[in-house]
Parts: sequence; structure tokens; C-alpha cells
Amino acid sequence: MPASSSKIRSVLIGTGAYLPQRILTNRELAASLDSSDEWIRQRTGISQRHVSSDSETTTDLATRAAKQAMVNAGIRDPSQIDLVIVATTTPTDVFPATATMVQHFIGASGFAFDLQAVCSGFVYALSVADSLLQSGSAKTALVIGAENFTRLLDWTDRGTCVLFGDGAGAVIVRAEAGKGDQSDRGILTSFLHSDGSLRDILYTDGSPGARVKMEGKEVFRHATEKMAAVAEEALDSLGLQGSDLDWLVPHQANLRIIEAMAKKLNLPLSKVIVTVDKHANTSAASIPLALHAGFSDGRLKPGQLIMVEALGGGLTWGSAIIRL
Ligand SMILES: CC(C)(COP(=O)(O)OP(=O)(O)OC[C@H]1O[C@@H](n2cnc3c(N)ncnc32)[C@H](O)[C@@H]1OP(=O)(O)O)[C@@H](O)C(=O)NCCC(=O)NCCS
Repeated sequence: MPASSSKIRSVLIGTGAYLPQRILTNRELAASLDSSDEWIRQRTGISQRHVSSDSETTTDLATRAAKQAMVNAGIRDPSQIDLVIVATTTPTDVFPATATMVQHFIGASGFAFDLQAVCSGFVYALSVADSLLQSGSAKTALVIGAENFTRLLDWTDRGTCVLFGDGAGAVIVRAEAGKGDQSDRGILTSFLHSDGSLRDILYTDGSPGARVKMEGKEVFRHATEKMAAVAEEALDSLGLQGSDLDWLVPHQANLRIIEAMAKKLNLPLSKVIVTVDKHANTSAASIPLALHAGFSDGRLKPGQLIMVEALGGGLTWGSAIIRL
């Protein structure tokens, strides 16, 4: 008889989101730029984005999303959460970590830290949380993507400022015993990559008031190539094909990139959660915001097989396959 191959799985038990109240439409933005609603929609799929008020910190956004995720996960005792990771490019302070502030405000126990992988931050954080749950370092992890990304924008640069927005999404994953096969609920596999030689196509310099600089076409090209490769890597590792997925929940940067990914995976756009039209690119927050949108409207359901994938500055990129 083969020995039982039971395995700890990180099972997603709740999601939450927070979007700042202020909505900035393309039309408003284009009024002070050499751009138009039509151009932005056609080239990116974006029609609006949320923008934080001056007093809203990344900690505020993350804490609100976290509290909603706790309610949705049915967690009444916050000390059950023993790991908090905040993926963010725009932490409230240089230090301490935004995550330790969130840990304090929600009353979590254990340990907390920030993780910086720009737009891939949530996929990185989910993968790191999975490793920490599997190693037994924690039992219930709160993984947040939170960004006040618009604070990094040069509002006179039409090539970047139309693309981004603010917001936060949170998921709670709990260690549960699985059988060790693909029928298990939880994170089934994840792959992470980075390549610092591509730093110059998407970055902010280190000076105070630094602003995003980007070579849009190059980022676009690398995004489609690298996310397709890392998606295939994850599928291959489980002997699956794109068509086996119930949903693709990709990083939300540009609808044309999302469409290219769906095509490579042989998935119709009706099997992709798309929020880029309403949220624009919220960097590390985009995937948890999309997950929350999918659960809230009933498209995402327990038992389904989904893929998350992202690419961001660094460059960094990664994917994970999860059974909900
Ligand atoms: C930025 C992006 C939308 C530009 O679209 P594009 O089709 O590549 O357009 P180009 O950069 O070739 O620009 C075409 C023209 O539109 C202009 N343009 C750029 N932004 C514009 C805007 N907001 N409004 C109007 N015109 C704009 C360019 O200046 C250029 O004009 P030119 O031909 O006179 O020089 C696209 O490259 C993109 O989305 N890249 C990926 C960005 C991304 O996802 N970044 C985050 C990764 S996490």
C-alpha cells in the first residue's frame, strides 16, 4: 500500500475589498491632458479609477479590506489570524511595515511584514503565505494587496497617469489537511520569477516625490510573453490545460493584455474576471480586488479551479493555481 501523501493546503476562506470613494473618470482626467476617453478605453479598457483622499493611508485601505475579509471568512476572534502580509509598493511609512499596523488595528496575533514586488506583489505574497502555512509557521494568514499608487503618478505624463488607481483587496487563507492531489481545495501550485536587468522599463527613482517612469510598449511585450510562460509552467506542473480552468483572475493592467492571456490559455473572456474597466491598475491590489468582485457576484464558487497571474516592475512575475 502506498503511504498516505496528505499535505497541508492553504485554503481561501474569505475575501474583502476597499475602494476609495472618489472616482476619477477618463473624461475628467483627459480634460487636463492631451488625451481622450476614447483613446484610454480603446488602448487600455479603462473607463475610471478610484483615488484616495489626502488623508487616506495605505494602512487605512488595507485595514478596511482586512475587516471585510474577516467577516466573510467568519472569523470572530481576530487573534486566530497569526500571519499578516501586505503586498504594497506604496507603504504608509518607510517603516514600520504597513502590515504591522494592520495587525495592530485588527487585533491579529503572530507576525506581520510587507512584501514588495510591485504589480506581482499579491501573487508573491500568496505564495510566501502558502509556504509559511505549509511549514507550520502560521495557521491562518491574511494576505492583502493595498496601494495608494496614484501618489506615484506624474499627472502630466499621459503615457502613465491614465493607467493606475488606488484600492485594497484582502484574502484569508487557512491551513487545512488535504489528500495531496488536485481535488484538494487550496493553493495547488505557484511559480515566481524576477529579472532585475529589466528594471529600466518600469520604475520610480529613489528621490522624494519620485514618479513612475515606463516604456509602455516594452512592458506590454514582456507582460504577454512572461505571463503566458508562467501560466503554462503552472498548468504543466499539474498536467492541466488552460481549458481545465474555471476562471482566470489576472492582474488588471490593460484589457488588451488580459485578452491576449485568455487567448493563449484557450479561455473565452467570459471565463476571466475583469475589473480593469472600473479600477484601472491598482498594482498589488488588483488581483484580490478581482477575487472579491468574483465572489461577491457569485461567479467564483468553492470547488472551482482558478489561476491568478501577474507581472510588475522589477520585472517580477508569477502565477498560482488554486482550487477555491
Ligand atoms: C501604455 C499603453 C496603453 C500605450 O499603448 P500603445 O498602444 O502601446 O501606445 P504607444 O505607446 O505606441 O503610443 C501611441 C501614441 O499614443 C500616444 N499616447 C500615449 N498615451 C496616451 C494617452 N493617454 N492619450 C492619448 N495618446 C496617448 C503616444 O504618445 C503615442 O503617440 P505618437 O505616436 O505621437 O508618439 C500600452 O503600451 C500599455 O498598456 N503598456 C503596458 C503598461 C502596463 O501594463 N504597465 C503596468 C504593468 S504592471
